Amino acid sequence: MAETPAVRQTIVQLLSHMRDGKEIREYLNRFSKVDQSRFAVVKVGGAVIRDDLEGLAAALAFLQSVGLLPIVVHGGGPQLDAALSEAGIPSEKINGLRVTPDAAIPVIRDNLTKINLSLVEAIRRAGGQAAAIPQGVFEAEMLDAAVYGRVGEPTHVRLDLVDSALKGGEAPILACLGDTVDGHLVNINADFAVRALVHRLQPYKIIFLTETGGLLDQAGQLISSVNLATEFDRLMASDWVSGGMRVKIEEIKRLLDDLPLTSSVSITRPEELAKELFTHAGAGTLVRKGEQVIP
Ligand code: ARG
Repeated sequence: MAETPAVRQTIVQLLSHMRDGKEIREYLNRFSKVDQSRFAVVKVGGAVIRDDLEGLAAALAFLQSVGLLPIVVHGGGPQLDAALSEAGIPSEKINGLRVTPDAAIPVIRDNLTKINLSLVEAIRRAGGQAAAIPQGVFEAEMLDAAVYGRVGEPTHVRLDLVDSALKGGEAPILACLGDTVDGHLVNINADFAVRALVHRLQPYKIIFLTETGGLLDQAGQLISSVNLATEFDRLMASDWVSGGMRVKIEEIKRLLDDLPLTSSVSITRPEELAKELFTHAGAGTLVRKGEQVIP
């Protein structure tokens, strides 16, 4: 594939961080060895798509230029808030889940599809290949219609569309729309979707692409790595760990508890993805399950 300027820039940046090619080669070998449906599940929030679409697309196209195919799951929180309010539907959350009246479903479907296509097209402009999969993957049951409306809890992950995209050399780009066994669309929380997909695929890496680019300590400094086995309890007991960060760490623990010890979670910004993946030092926060040292 001919490198576009954005991908070329990523390569130049990566080269500037390396002493020799050994680290990069080592990680590239490691990531290429696993079946590509098991390389990485990448979660992207709606805010990153809104504010940094080109950077995001370049980062994903870069992975493809070195032969890696990530599976991407995206949200659309801020975009949906705006679209729903325009449609006169209030955005209400209970336990972090978007309450979804029937009338919200077409708005959510149309907007998530639009966001999905905008990412797919940006990846193509950046020289990558991507398949739009806005729905058809997450089979779901209604969580509690009386409380949440049309919010689904994934019960089964259908991989046909994902596998077909991968076979064609395209990165599958998934939105969090689910359907019930009898074909009704439901809204699925992005964390739920990622959890179901990760459970099914058992990926080597889970990557969260965010604007902050990692977990921050009390001084606002990036935490480079977290070993859950030795640090989870201490983090949870620290009063500087905010509510939002607590939820994030618990979610990551939940994901890693379901995976082999070799798997890890990286939180980083799109611009730093290459450095995070292909250098030892990384650029972001690496979370591993780690091993409890027997006392
Ligand atoms: N490149 C390695 C990986 O992706 C190590 C990353 C280290 N990152 C960090 N933030 N400490 O698994």
